[in-house]
Amino acid sequence: MSREIVLVSRELRPLLDGERPEWPGGAATRWVAPSEELPLSERVVALIPLLSREISGAEMDRLPRLRVVANYAVGYDNVDVEAARERGVAVTNTPGVLTEATADLTWALILAAARRMREGLELATSGRWEGWKPDQLLGAGLQEKRLGILGAGRIGSAVARRAPGFGMDVLYWSRSGNAELERAVGARREEELDDILSASHVLSVHLPLTPETRGLLDAGALAAMTPGSVLVNTARGGIVETEALAGALREGPLSAAGLDVYPNEPEVPASLRELPNAFVLPHLGSATREARTGMWRIARDNVRSVLAGREPMTPVPESALPGATGD
Ligand code: DGY
Repeated sequence: MSREIVLVSRELRPLLDGERPEWPGGAATRWVAPSEELPLSERVVALIPLLSREISGAEMDRLPRLRVVANYAVGYDNVDVEAARERGVAVTNTPGVLTEATADLTWALILAAARRMREGLELATSGRWEGWKPDQLLGAGLQEKRLGILGAGRIGSAVARRAPGFGMDVLYWSRSGNAELERAVGARREEELDDILSASHVLSVHLPLTPETRGLLDAGALAAMTPGSVLVNTARGGIVETEALAGALREGPLSAAGLDVYPNEPEVPASLRELPNAFVLPHLGSATREARTGMWRIARDNVRSVLAGREPMTPVPESALPGATGD
């Protein structure tokens, strides 16, 4: 049998600073372009895809000796985890290294949306600004307001930890309680989704995309939000229904939204692009050099572990499988 192959997404190459990845057993690296179909090959034993590549059972069947999918992301909704389990393929993600970067960007969006920075930037760069006015582009103050966190995992908790610096109280909604978060920032858990929607002045989404969370924030849920509140999503676009969100931004109850993710990336829905109170970014949550190189190291080391016959370092949780519970 000729040399085994590790398929690595070609977009990762510029980040590697000339590193030539080495693999147990002397496997070769083959870089795969985004538009390229996965090869039908018995030699491929590992795969490092981006979140934009769907890895279904059919893709795995093209690679019958595949042992590990090391997703270059903390989210793994692009990978059919059940199909992987059935085929004995390990699936790993990149938790931890992008937590603080994503929490920082979430706060950038909270501030940008609440303080109308899109409109401000447009006015300042348009040449039409006529000078300071007492009522110009008034936004929402954050002090003594409530920040609602949907999903109190690593990133949600890191966002919550920054809230006292802005004078905000924290509420959270998650399947299980987070005693540490309650201790650290006095966060209060809301058992019902409707309760956190109606109590939050800023609501920030940090849930994984699963069959249960897809479309969770639909027209009904958005209508239950506090009048004048701000919605921020740095998790996955599919959790919020786009047209319902556009309606809630046009007619209320939302005053603004800060968005980093969309259901069909790289498409940023036109209904959001044209709204001045939607501050939109192109999925930049983890976009710091530190986070992105940390993600590479974790994906690479997961592949090395599995190919060396060891357990993967960061397998996706059992709760990724249907029927299981827990965040
Ligand atoms: C992830 O890792 O899931 C982010 O969406 C990209 O960093």
